Amino acid sequence: MRSVAMVTQKGGSGKSTLAACLAVAAQEAGERVFLIDMDPQKSLTKWCRHRGDQNLPVESVSPAKLPDALAALERGRVTLVIIDTPAGDTSAADIAIKAADFCLIPARPAIFDIWSSEATRGKIKTLGKEFAFVLNQCPPMQESQRVQDGTAALESMGGLLRPLISARVAYQEAARSGLGATEIDGDGKAGDEIRQLWTSLKRRLAKIKMPSKQNKNAA
Ligand SMILES: Nc1ncnc2c1ncn2[C@@H]1O[C@H](COP(=O)(O)OP(=O)(O)OP(=O)(O)O)[C@@H](O)[C@H]1O
Ligand SMILES: [Mg+2]
Repeated sequence: MRSVAMVTQKGGSGKSTLAACLAVAAQEAGERVFLIDMDPQKSLTKWCRHRGDQNLPVESVSPAKLPDALAALERGRVTLVIIDTPAGDTSAADIAIKAADFCLIPARPAIFDIWSSEATRGKIKTLGKEFAFVLNQCPPMQESQRVQDGTAALESMGGLLRPLISARVAYQEAARSGLGATEIDGDGKAGDEIRQLWTSLKRRLAKIKMPSKQNKNAA
């Protein structure tokens, strides 16, 4: 089992949207996915409820209970857990960073997002966790200077997963309908980029050095 925390101090960067879309794409690729919602806004929980898919459960978990919840899932059949966290420098995000195997930091190609990403990356590095950025809500013209600057900044901070994710109505429509981008736009660009993003993330997860189960439970 691998667990991925969606984290960034910046609000509205796409943590919940990408959590939902990646969950569906991973499930389509054969993973048994479980979602954990640590955000009091409950975006992911509401999306799941709307979806009504027994094969894609979501649970709201308090920070104190997260390590035990992950340990219980590890004993079961789940292969991938995606943890959505609130924006801000919160204890929920700290605990999710500590407990997850990997952190994914969504950022928009805008300077305030890049600065926030830097702070989040600092926190993740202090806690000794592996991470990657994903550039979300890019303008369709990806060769624009703003996107190029964002890409360069995130790459220099330690790794950007490809592809870049564009701003597309399909993401908003998917969220509204309890669907993933690969479902609402399966043959289109949004579906394509999310499938590719899952492939990149899966490849990255496969490279993580995992502590032995004994050490993990003691941590
Ligand atoms: N690639 C995209 N294209 C178009 N709209 C997007 C995209 N990604 C996210 N959005 C929209 O941006 C808004 C913020 O996204 P989302 O709620 O996923 O961010 P968040 O990081 O979870 O926010 P919060 O910090 O409040 O939890 C939503 O309205 C969502 O529909
Ligand atoms: Mg959210």
